[in-house]
Amino acid sequence: MPMERTLAIIKPDAVAAGNAGKIISMIEQAGFRILAMRMQKLTRAEAEGFYAVHRGKGFFEELVAFMTEGPVVLMALEREDAIAKWREVMGATDPKKAAPGTVRALYGTDIGRNASHGSDAPETAAFEVSWFFRGSELG
Ligand code: CMP
Repeated sequence: MPMERTLAIIKPDAVAAGNAGKIISMIEQAGFRILAMRMQKLTRAEAEGFYAVHRGKGFFEELVAFMTEGPVVLMALEREDAIAKWREVMGATDPKKAAPGTVRALYGTDIGRNASHGSDAPETAAFEVSWFFRGSELG
């Protein structure tokens, strides 16, 4: 299985609740290498551009408002099968459907406030990592 990269976000709900460290620990325990990491409050333009594929959907405004309400932790992660593995560690998008012990089951509230984000395919991972990190930051 080749090495792969993915973009992980610890969302504003989880950062505000003081759960960022526990989620970073879960990422390390799952064997990811953190290539780059930064905490910042997203601008509206950054959030809208990042989630551009969802523009026009009913939840888009709510999603952008949520993602800009407080700081997030952005991470570029690497390991074998990173995209699928990080999605497994996060659990289902809706925390009520997420498997016990996953990030979203432990720290999410509902489908909107769901503690974390992960890329869903190699093309989106490449776009999402480059949206927040320059190549020179990825070691
Ligand atoms: P995320 O993996 O960050 O990608 C898009 C986000 O939109 C998703 O997680 C959810 O948090 C959010 N979202 C809000 N409402 C919905 C919805 N009804 N269906 C899917 N995603 C939603």
